Amino acid sequence: MKFFVDTADTAEIAELAATGLLDGVTTNPTLIARSGRDFIEVVAEICRLVDGPVSAEVIASDHPGMMREAGILRELADNVCIKVPMTLDGLKTCKKLSADGAMVNVTLCFSLGQALLAAKAGATFVSPFIGRHDDNGFDGIDLIRDIRLVYDNYNFATEILAASVRHPIHVLECARLGADVATMPAPVIRNLVKHVLTDKGIEGFLADWAKTGQTICG
Ligand code: E4P
Repeated sequence: MKFFVDTADTAEIAELAATGLLDGVTTNPTLIARSGRDFIEVVAEICRLVDGPVSAEVIASDHPGMMREAGILRELADNVCIKVPMTLDGLKTCKKLSADGAMVNVTLCFSLGQALLAAKAGATFVSPFIGRHDDNGFDGIDLIRDIRLVYDNYNFATEILAASVRHPIHVLECARLGADVATMPAPVIRNLVKHVLTDKGIEGFLADWAKTGQTICG
């Protein structure tokens, strides 16, 4: 399972990239606005920080406009992944860009039918939004299960990128179901590391080690 971080905060991305555990980045217009930085400049910087796909979302809602914006974004780096909304214009743009060799992430997916269309449009990634699905009384994890089943039925190459991930349990459920990628805020990745018994174990080992009076590095 690939781990992407869902942020446009370059300091946060650099810190996670240094662990060697980060496989990519997703951004959206809200995250770009939160960064307070120029869109093109911040996306270019993120692409230099990670080797994997960096999703950058088009703003236009019509196909010609999406194509124009995608053209500019594609020039930034080889690892840019063009993020398009789940609309007919978005799917048409996905089809065109994928045929032209670009990575495409179809975002704001809330149903199995939408996921099926994204795969048919040749998307590299489809982004079902688990947390927002849950917020509205649906089960985001059920959606991941359904998409996995249907994609496997037809051997679709589109990767399931679980998005709007709110906590470690979402990540673990997605892993059990075989989602290809989870994109999550940095605190969720950090929380996956934590366990009270790990902390307690380290504390105990260090206390006992201190009693030996030894050092490893001299
Ligand atoms: C994914 O690409 C989106 O940027 C993101 O996961 C949205 O998450 P949110 O529902 O927490 O805003």
